[in-house]
Amino acid sequence: MEHLLKLQDLTEKEILSILNLADQLKYERKNNIQKEYLKGKKLGMIFQKSSTRTRVSFEAGIYELGGYGLFLSSNDLQIGRGEPVQDTARVLSRYLDCIMIRTFEQKEVEDLAKYGSIPVINGLTDYAHPCQVLADLMTIREIKGSFKGLKLAFIGDGNNMANSLMAGCVKVGMDFAIACPKNYLPDEKLTAWAKENGNVLITENVNEAIEGADVVYTDVWASMGMEKEREERYRAFSKYQVNAEAMSHANSDAMVQHCLPAHRGEEITEEVFEGHAGEIFEEAENRLHVQKAVMVTLMKK
Ligand code: CP
Ligand code: NVA
Repeated sequence: MEHLLKLQDLTEKEILSILNLADQLKYERKNNIQKEYLKGKKLGMIFQKSSTRTRVSFEAGIYELGGYGLFLSSNDLQIGRGEPVQDTARVLSRYLDCIMIRTFEQKEVEDLAKYGSIPVINGLTDYAHPCQVLADLMTIREIKGSFKGLKLAFIGDGNNMANSLMAGCVKVGMDFAIACPKNYLPDEKLTAWAKENGNVLITENVNEAIEGADVVYTDVWASMGMEKEREERYRAFSKYQVNAEAMSHANSDAMVQHCLPAHRGEEITEEVFEGHAGEIFEEAENRLHVQKAVMVTLMKK
């Protein structure tokens, strides 16, 4: 594994090996065992969109591993003024050991990896959010014990989170269902691959997707960069809410996951969110452990 650009690129074995290392790092941190696995290594973190979890967990994570993180806002980089990603990649490769990037287009992340000579980590694009889904898988395995025979239901927009969850579930052998309006389906090519390789249901009906689910997942109705579509999206998604009625169709011990930030009263009710807050904030914590595992895997070579 050279980069983390999207989950489809990884084998099941590579995913499980990251999750196992993340469990180990979580254990070591809880027991005050500090090991500088990445002593002196430098991580550049390019952000073209806002972030709380991704920024802080990567920065804290590289520091805990003995390395150093550079926060690079695109407003301050030449990339924000049009310097090509091909050139940025080749320059940063000469200074740093790894780049994490959050941006709009998946192609930009893929180009960074193509033209640079150091590992690249996708910290969210419009297409994918692999770091988040690795943390979700870690949390699911922690709480449920394994993946086999489990069903994850995603309620909401078929964009980055839905795409990566679909890929992640297929890779580890979980069933995946999504309920979304017909104009907001997940990526077509990815869906075709997922249907060939796993058990995938796509429906407009929330209750049908949630039926028998072990994990119920949701995300905001209007993602970053889609603020202009807010009103139209709020109309389209008004029925796509994780609430008590919807949850009554899931298994009685179903867990709830949310990548955060959450909009209570929109994609999820206050009641369901607070009833599952323990699982949701464990999921947020696991971003730290899983990304440390990703960085160690990519930079240790
Ligand atoms: N879930 C997630 O990626 O959060 P941030 O946008 O705060 O980084
Ligand atoms: N779909 C959301 C995820 C945020 C972590 C967005 O792209 O804004």
